[in-house]
Amino acid sequence: MKILGIETSCDETAAAVVADGKTVLSNVIATSAQMHIATGGIIPETAARQQVKFIIPVISKALKEAKLTYKDIDAIAVTYGPGLIGSLLVGVETAKTLAYIWQKPVIPVNHLIGHIYANWVNNMYLPKFPAIALVVSGGHTDLVLMQSHKDLKWIGGTRDDASGEAFDKCARLLDLPYPGGPNISAAAETYLKHNTKNLKLEMFPRPMIYEDNFDWSFSGLKTAALRETKNLTPNTKDRERLAAEVQEAIVDVLVNKTIKAVKIYKPKSLLLSGGVSANNRLRERFESSVLSLKFSVKLFLPEKSLCTDNAVMTAVAAYYRKRNIAWKDIATAPELTITG
Ligand code: KG4
Ligand code: ZN
Repeated sequence: MKILGIETSCDETAAAVVADGKTVLSNVIATSAQMHIATGGIIPETAARQQVKFIIPVISKALKEAKLTYKDIDAIAVTYGPGLIGSLLVGVETAKTLAYIWQKPVIPVNHLIGHIYANWVNNMYLPKFPAIALVVSGGHTDLVLMQSHKDLKWIGGTRDDASGEAFDKCARLLDLPYPGGPNISAAAETYLKHNTKNLKLEMFPRPMIYEDNFDWSFSGLKTAALRETKNLTPNTKDRERLAAEVQEAIVDVLVNKTIKAVKIYKPKSLLLSGGVSANNRLRERFESSVLSLKFSVKLFLPEKSLCTDNAVMTAVAAYYRKRNIAWKDIATAPELTITG
């Protein structure tokens, strides 16, 4: 079964063709990220206008790279939420129009669940249930228990800012360009490389880390970083040190609470996903934490290019979570949560 995935929830315009939920035949992404550097963050109107510009060329390229025509496609999968309304509309309305003209079924996909399915791509071993999935993106931080493809239970999440948002906001305070996550990560890595001995990264608070739940709070970190940078015109060395501190504070709480959930639910698989899961330090800390558990759980880390927004994950999620829904009944849902 060949599915054409379409993803336009934010500033990426993505289309991909995936066969049988695992084999990537094409993966095309256009992004307006460069345009958002000047503003230090996404302007929704700008993102939506770029979506309009890119959508048809990106879909055409995805079919061409897969060496297919629309006739070979069995279904169209599209992200319907959460995300920016203007951006989502471009993908959803295009998918519905193509479904009508090409006479193909269209499968709506929750973007957050889409992220989780990056873990099913190109893997020799597929995730087994029950699974604990951590979704860490620019707008969301959620922990879910998956008993099957269609049985997802939300067990925790952020009470305020998302983890990606914390990276992005702290980066701005450090005068690091948008998107903040990769830039904080790069600055932090330089610091860690040069400071290997007696490394203590304890400057910032770890809110809620000992609380008896699976929730996070990241807004205090931004305030603490603001306090720290207020009287400082950061030079490169300060920036690298503070980037390492910010990263460690975020990674610490994410790993701590997720591993706590793993100890309680004892899943067969632990799945990381979303843009922040591309972070090297987070990946390393999860790898060592899972190794030190007294029972076995397989950790899945998507390929880095599939952690951030793409349409491969959308097509894969649609394959495993197919549902029959008429194109007329599909609408954008900008505020959609992970459990709908
Ligand atoms: O999943 P994603 O591409 O888009 C959303 O659905 O939001 O996630 C984007 C987020 C941004 O906040 C970005 O700064 C963060 O992921 N991110 C990272 C890294 N790469 C992307 N955060 C930390 N380290 C990274 N290497
Ligand atoms: Zn995303």
